[in-house]
Amino acid sequence: MVREGDGSGRILSNVVRSQWEQHRPYGGVVPEIAARAHVECLDLLIEEALGSAGLTLSDLDGIAATAGPGLIGGLMVGLTTAKAVALARGLPLIAVNHLEAHALTVGLTHGVPPPYLLLLVSGGHTQLQIVHGVGRYERLGSTIDDALGEAFDKTAKLLGLGFPGGPAVEKAALAGDPRRFPFPRPMHGRPEPHFSFAGLKTAVRQRAEALQPLDAETVADICASFQAAVAASVADRCAKAMELYELKTGPGAARRLVVAGGVAANMALRDGLAELGRARGFELIVPPPSLCSDNGAMVAWAGAERLARGWTDRLDVPARARWPLDQLAAPVLGAGRLGAKA
Ligand code: KG4
Ligand code: ZN
Repeated sequence: MVREGDGSGRILSNVVRSQWEQHRPYGGVVPEIAARAHVECLDLLIEEALGSAGLTLSDLDGIAATAGPGLIGGLMVGLTTAKAVALARGLPLIAVNHLEAHALTVGLTHGVPPPYLLLLVSGGHTQLQIVHGVGRYERLGSTIDDALGEAFDKTAKLLGLGFPGGPAVEKAALAGDPRRFPFPRPMHGRPEPHFSFAGLKTAVRQRAEALQPLDAETVADICASFQAAVAASVADRCAKAMELYELKTGPGAARRLVVAGGVAANMALRDGLAELGRARGFELIVPPPSLCSDNGAMVAWAGAERLARGWTDRLDVPARARWPLDQLAAPVLGAGRLGAKA
């Protein structure tokens, strides 16, 4: 729950119920389990969020819920619950695009207004967008194969590091040598700021297979070298996007690079981007890790921003498995996951 006023915000409560434990035995997210877990916990979660904010339903100005993109079962449970509360209490409903919630989080955490360049890196998405304003997004690039979080998760899986993989790879990499394995830097130097991680993942797999059985030092070195390749590739892609951002927004626009999504918690990635930012005169802004990965406060904030503009939704608004942030951008060739959950 958030309070919005004069374009800045305050978090009143942010209750996150993780489902990783339920999915862990299967090594990935199981849609049916995800939907059931939403049904089981949502009523209690709403009560908890109200309780820790010290509010009741009558204190609310509107109800926001994620309507997409993502796994349809969980989306329908959340959106239907929000519709029921909105109907019962006569409150406006705001159906939020989950990607927009990630894109606008820095307004809540840092009071930063658009425009800015956004790098969105999560388990389902890897995109560079210009955030021109609330509801106005321009995609500059996206992945042509795997999302970055997915590449971390697959690397962790093949090294036996568990799930979700990002934090496990980062932890193992702390003890590793990032120069031991010269993994490829995908898309390096290409003029359009797209991403690709499938080739890097294959290189990691081949190396891991060649070095079986893996000792802890080798695992750490692979993780550190993988992260170094990722950080260099992402920084190179962001450098291209910065050039486009300046061309498209003009000389007066604020030079800011905002990073959002679960992978934004990764320190190797942040360090690489901070260095790039210093070199190019861009301020790097990253929400705290708990607000980078999926959370309710960012959805409430995006809802509050839309409500402030009078943008509400009808009670028959559908949940959408696919829902690009920038409706006008052409899909990228080979990008199988553009509409997946972020
Ligand atoms: O945005 P997010 O919380 O949720 C969805 O994708 O739905 O992002 C989750 C992704 C996972 O792939 C996870 O492995 C990755 O973010 N992630 C990380 C780190 N923390 C989470 N990747 C790299 N380093 C991290 N520290
Ligand atoms: Zn997300």
